[in-house]
Amino acid sequence: MTETPSVQRLRPARQFSGVVRPPGDKSISHRYALLAALADGRSTIANFSTGADCHSTLQCVAALGARIEIGAAANAASGASGDGARAITGHGRRGLHAPAAELDAGNSGSTIRMLSGILAAQPFASRISGDASLRRRPMRRILEPLSQMGAQITAAGGGRPPLAFTPVAGLRGITYQPQVASAQVKTAVLFAGLFAAGETIVAEPQPTRDHTEIALRQFGVALDFPARNRIALRPPAAELAPQELRVPGDPSSAAFFLCAAAMLPEADLLVDQVSLNPRRSALLDVLRRMGARIGVVNIEEQNGELAGSLTARPPESGRLQGTQIAAAEAVALIDEIPILAVLATAAEGGIRFRDVAELRVKESDRIAAIAANLRRMGAECTEYPDGLDVPGPQSLRGAALDSCGDHRIAMAFSIAALTAVGDSEIHDPGCAAISFPEFFPTLARLTGE
Ligand code: S3P
Repeated sequence: MTETPSVQRLRPARQFSGVVRPPGDKSISHRYALLAALADGRSTIANFSTGADCHSTLQCVAALGARIEIGAAANAASGASGDGARAITGHGRRGLHAPAAELDAGNSGSTIRMLSGILAAQPFASRISGDASLRRRPMRRILEPLSQMGAQITAAGGGRPPLAFTPVAGLRGITYQPQVASAQVKTAVLFAGLFAAGETIVAEPQPTRDHTEIALRQFGVALDFPARNRIALRPPAAELAPQELRVPGDPSSAAFFLCAAAMLPEADLLVDQVSLNPRRSALLDVLRRMGARIGVVNIEEQNGELAGSLTARPPESGRLQGTQIAAAEAVALIDEIPILAVLATAAEGGIRFRDVAELRVKESDRIAAIAANLRRMGAECTEYPDGLDVPGPQSLRGAALDSCGDHRIAMAFSIAALTAVGDSEIHDPGCAAISFPEFFPTLARLTGE
């Protein structure tokens, strides 16, 4: 990783225009890496996420015996272009071996939760943990279904990492209805289902991102959808087939720039090659109903996932309209709420967020982090246990801001700084590299700094 200063200074933007190609989608990269490690043979993955979280997944699967090739080596053999390629060679579902040491998921909730579905089924013992933020995050949501399937897992106090897995002879399929709408929980259960006797069914309380379902099918696993929001999997007789894959750009990384373009006068942005998966595209609906001019060009399908390019400009009238976000839309937008809270300050009537209690248990307590930073910029907002009201329009003043070690807070408030009166500084900005190491250089290019 490149060295990052401990403080990032940011000036109000004088311009905001250009072309952005976001890093490969983080969610899809994790899933491709995990499934490639279970497949029998060599998969190639072009445009793999450059974020530190996906690197954590690669290191974990390498420690479990998958062979990883990075950059030129992976490119040369796969014919993929660019430096974002990875090749992963797995040895089938029974081909993993015991790691020599505790697995390190770093800051990545996706890594620990999704990989747990695989570790739970192994005939060897393992342990997995991560950084201080990850060790505070709730794991009962995966421990409960995996235990019902016959896994033996112990967690530290309060159901938090580290997690220790005892070898098991086999798992059994279950029908599981998670309490929280979580794609990570769904994935952990479906991945465990690849090793289980009989059928595994997940009945989601709300639809969550469906990259796991799409990727499983891509690797040759048949799924059934017996009812709305129900996914059924039977472990296939054949091994998962290795694949040649390309990851579309990350819409949650693009979100920071799309919202900046909606807010900044005269902005003109093209986001090239980004995921247009409908379960990740709710931000586009919100931006449009707020009045921003959003265009979609060149839609194509890659490995079952939709991708394309987007254009973004502020409303013709110059004024964004406020809105409300709750229920299913809140689930679909969960990673975009920090930047939407910043956008709210520029909208007539602001934004009322509800049903976002999950934000309290992300990489930081994001509701508290958003509220604290908005107040530092002189903005008003009201916090609720499961929500936030951000009135608008309100003008922001430059301030000393705190990322709270959370990548999405660092990036959201960097955009806030562009719209402020006066200079700002973001403390601990290096965490942006968790999902988007190129964020600050890209921002400097778009603002002409
Ligand atoms: C993710 C699911 C979401 C999201 C996270 C990535 C995934 O988490 O917030 O950034 O890749 O499945 P939950 O499953 O906890 O909702």
